[in-house]
Amino acid sequence: MEKVAVVTGASSGIGLAISKMLIKQGFLVYGFGRTFYETEELDNTFKTFFHQVVCDITDTKQLIEKINDIRQQHTIELLINNAGVGFYGPHETLNSTKIQQMVRTNLEAPMIITNIFLRDLQKTKGTIVNISSVTATKSNTHGCAYGATKAGLTSFSHSLFDEVRKTGIKVVNIQPDMTKTNLYRNADFSEDEDILAHLNPKEVANIIKYIIGCRDGLVISDVTLKPQLHRIKRKNNTSK
Ligand SMILES: NC(=O)c1ccc[n+]([C@@H]2O[C@H](COP(=O)([O-])OP(=O)(O)OC[C@H]3O[C@@H](n4cnc5c(N)ncnc54)[C@H](OP(=O)(O)O)[C@@H]3O)[C@@H](O)[C@H]2O)c1
Repeated sequence: MEKVAVVTGASSGIGLAISKMLIKQGFLVYGFGRTFYETEELDNTFKTFFHQVVCDITDTKQLIEKINDIRQQHTIELLINNAGVGFYGPHETLNSTKIQQMVRTNLEAPMIITNIFLRDLQKTKGTIVNISSVTATKSNTHGCAYGATKAGLTSFSHSLFDEVRKTGIKVVNIQPDMTKTNLYRNADFSEDEDILAHLNPKEVANIIKYIIGCRDGLVISDVTLKPQLHRIKRKNNTSK
């Protein structure tokens, strides 16, 4: 029988790379996102096994409806909480809308989605992967709120695994460093172009491929991925 995965933030970046990897591994993927421009270009195999779920995950009513639609048809084996948003800069320059958007997308929605799928994942002895960030475990000037949402997600992953491990569910906390995606569209910096100074989304997806291929009884609960060099690019093109 077909294995079914739910991936949030599947329309671009790391989530899209994970979705492509999962389809190659034989999964049917329900991918959540608000706009799916990038998937329009993809081949028919991808389109056959990728079900777009157009949903703003901060709209809780809509989110619950979409999840329950999936639950009526499938008992999922894999949940990837990947959708995220970042607003950066001195904390005084943010506003309540941006702060709420980060907290709701990066922390509240993963907890709600997990809550609803948890009983199904117990039945399949499934896996939950939360895409946190290296910011979860360090001090983040100019990213105080973003880092706090990721620290919350990492904390949630650890506690949840301790709570549900006896049921056979695996919970995996992934903490990538600078990855070449659109995440920094709202920032005055981005990843440095040097391949030694950033990760690619496919590399994050390949780590997940390895993790989900592990035997029952072996859980890789935490992974931190860093490029060799710690360097970012200011959008006026200077590196730091
Ligand atoms: N890039 C990095 O350096 C880096 C490092 C560490 C961790 N991460 C984490 O990796 C995850 C993926 O980010 P990315 O780097 O791949 O950036 P990205 O290309 O901007 O992808 C973000 C994804 O989240 C989705 N999303 C955002 N808000 C949403 C909402 N309200 N409802 C539904 N979907 C929403 C976006 O889809 P739509 O726009 O279509 O809604 C998009 O598919 C995030 O959690 C991010 O914090 C990234």
